[in-house]
Amino acid sequence: MAESRYTVHVNVAPAAYDVVIEPGLLRHLGGMFTKLTGSKKVGLVTDTNVARHHLAPALNSLNSEGIEVIPCVLPAGEEHKTLENVGKIYDKVLPAGIDRRTPLMALGGGVVGDMTGFAAATILRGVPFVQVPTTLLSSVDASVGGKTGIDHPVGKNLIGAFHQPMAVLIDPAVLLTLPERELISGLAECVKHDIIRDADHFAQLDTILTQALTRDLETLSALIAHNVTIKAKVVEADPFEKGERAHLNFGHTFGHAFEKVSEFGYSHGEGVGLGMVAASRLAEAMGLIDADSVQKIIGAIGAARLPVSGLKLDVQKCVAAMLYDKKVSGVKIRFVLPDRIGHVVIRDDVPPEAVAQAVASLRE
Ligand SMILES: NC(=O)c1ccc[n+]([C@@H]2O[C@H](COP(=O)([O-])OP(=O)(O)OC[C@H]3O[C@@H](n4cnc5c(N)ncnc54)[C@H](O)[C@@H]3O)[C@@H](O)[C@H]2O)c1
Ligand SMILES: [Zn+2]
Repeated sequence: MAESRYTVHVNVAPAAYDVVIEPGLLRHLGGMFTKLTGSKKVGLVTDTNVARHHLAPALNSLNSEGIEVIPCVLPAGEEHKTLENVGKIYDKVLPAGIDRRTPLMALGGGVVGDMTGFAAATILRGVPFVQVPTTLLSSVDASVGGKTGIDHPVGKNLIGAFHQPMAVLIDPAVLLTLPERELISGLAECVKHDIIRDADHFAQLDTILTQALTRDLETLSALIAHNVTIKAKVVEADPFEKGERAHLNFGHTFGHAFEKVSEFGYSHGEGVGLGMVAASRLAEAMGLIDADSVQKIIGAIGAARLPVSGLKLDVQKCVAAMLYDKKVSGVKIRFVLPDRIGHVVIRDDVPPEAVAQAVASLRE
């Protein structure tokens, strides 16, 4: 399997670290952790679903290196990304005699990653953080950017901190147990990255997505490496979110509205899939992109088995959800729109009627 080992170097001030991607990595976790940190102790945070499939091999490997593991198994799901559960991490690791060099390791998807990262940012004002993402979404998205945090009843991700991991260790073989809907949700971000940055890779997407959906490990490894590279480049070029990092929001202004109005009936990836269709149609209506390219974009989203039509939500409610979001922050609504495959522009002069039309087009 050596041919499917990838290392992507991420260089985001104030940190630089490697994202290592290798099928079977989990069995060597202890050795890698030792080399990386030199620590003989780790707080290992995971959730009940991930624990069922992947905690034993991780523990075995860490134990075989003589590493003392403080385990913390949290309930699974976005509704548990709360201060209460971060408190459970504090309650497990603080009494276990940790010091400022004792790393916290997140073995899980974005929920576990965000909570563990937040705990690592705050325990003793910052302990090292090692991420072991177990979903495609967290592998290609949450692995770069250093964002950590939790939800509040008022909204998602409202409390948090920037805390860069010291390394991200990805074993694509863990994706063999990931529910299909979660895999597909992660593919939405992969399709997004190519639409905003890489026309050449986009041209091969049909084949790659078909292979990825069969969970071919070489395909998944290469796909993760490619997407981590794109996200790293975008974040490296705009570490303070002043400009082009907003490109990563392609499909998300619409997508968040669909998630919200459907009361999270649509997954994040499904919302973003539909959102990318709407944004592309909006770009076409504004004369930014040709119809043929829009058809290709919709084809790729469909090839990922994401929805591209059949929206059952009220159009005005969706538009209101987008506008309301922005009114609160006092900022004009900004759309990330493709002007060709592999390239996007930011526009804040989009007529609300055109937004409504783009949403309405999804109902057919
Ligand atoms: N920090 C960032 O930059 C960033 C970026 C993107 C998303 N996020 C956050 O990530 C979260 C979404 O992440 P997610 O989609 O990974 O969700 P998740 O962590 O909730 O995982 C999805 C589901 O899959 C289960 N699961 C995870 N790995 C598994 C595996 N290998 N086998 C079987 N089941 C498995 C989980 O228990 C959960 O039920 C959101 O809270 C979002 O805000 C953060
Ligand atoms: Zn997203």
